[in-house]
Amino acid sequence: MNEINDKNVLTRVEGRVGIIQINRPKVLNALDQQTMNELVAALEEFDKSEEIGCLVLTGNERAFAAGADIKQMATATPVDMLNNPFIDYWDRLSRINKPIIAAVSGYALGGGCELAMACDMIIASESALFGQPEINLGVIPGAGGTQRLTRAVGKAVAMEMVLNGRQLSAEEALGYGLVNRVVPVELYLEEAIKFAAEIAARAPVAVRLGKEAINAAFETNLQAGLALERRLFYMLFATEDQQEGMDAFVNKRPAEWKGK
Ligand code: CAA
Repeated sequence: MNEINDKNVLTRVEGRVGIIQINRPKVLNALDQQTMNELVAALEEFDKSEEIGCLVLTGNERAFAAGADIKQMATATPVDMLNNPFIDYWDRLSRINKPIIAAVSGYALGGGCELAMACDMIIASESALFGQPEINLGVIPGAGGTQRLTRAVGKAVAMEMVLNGRQLSAEEALGYGLVNRVVPVELYLEEAIKFAAEIAARAPVAVRLGKEAINAAFETNLQAGLALERRLFYMLFATEDQQEGMDAFVNKRPAEWKGK
């Protein structure tokens, strides 16, 4: 896999894990259009690679991302916003098939919180701070904050966060089910990569369809979701990995996944 080392986003590979780091430390990783463009392009590149099984998206210790770039939006008209592909990047992100783990330390505010929530799992450092402070700018979240946050933490807390700028510490976010784990600051990225490596070592097609089925739970009613799950479950019986996994269990040996 070639490294994409563009200015605003750095990428690297560890084993079967593709790591993408937002790299605008001077502005606390504020997400301008160029950064979102590079970030989504890097995710799509890793998504296509058979060598990669799971993705980690991170920032730095001080900031995962402090939101959309306010300076870029400050003088925008509604038509500028309409014509700007900025929000569309989140739709492209939601079409990534491989699991994405957000490794979050420091500020995850506004678009930064929305970006973390658009990932599939979140490993937070003890210093992580989640919030949707758009109300302080006279607007509301525009990249999924009102929807994903409400589904994650429930209506009561989402209302406080969106209407009154309440921010959640890492421990609070864990309590509300927004994040998977909280780990010491010096370990958060290492833990996220280790976690991603475990998922990347599993049967790739099953991982992909498991993600698809869970995400469908947010889009469908129960019967439609159960029907989709059943079809995906049956479909996995057409894979070599299903035969391998069950044969390995019966013969008490480790499975060797092929992704086929
Ligand atoms: N956009 C642009 N620049 C930003 C930024 C943002 N979202 N967040 C921080 N920066 C810049 C600051 O302007 C500053 O740059 P200069 O040195 O050139 O002045 C630099 O990053 C460091 O920031 P601070 O000096 O403010 O650092 P601090 O430690 O005093 O405060 C902070 C940190 C509390 C996170 C503060 O920077 C802050 O409140 N940032 C804005 C957070 C915010 O409102 N995010 C929501 C954005 S809107 C959005 O995301 C819409 C959407 O839903 C898509």
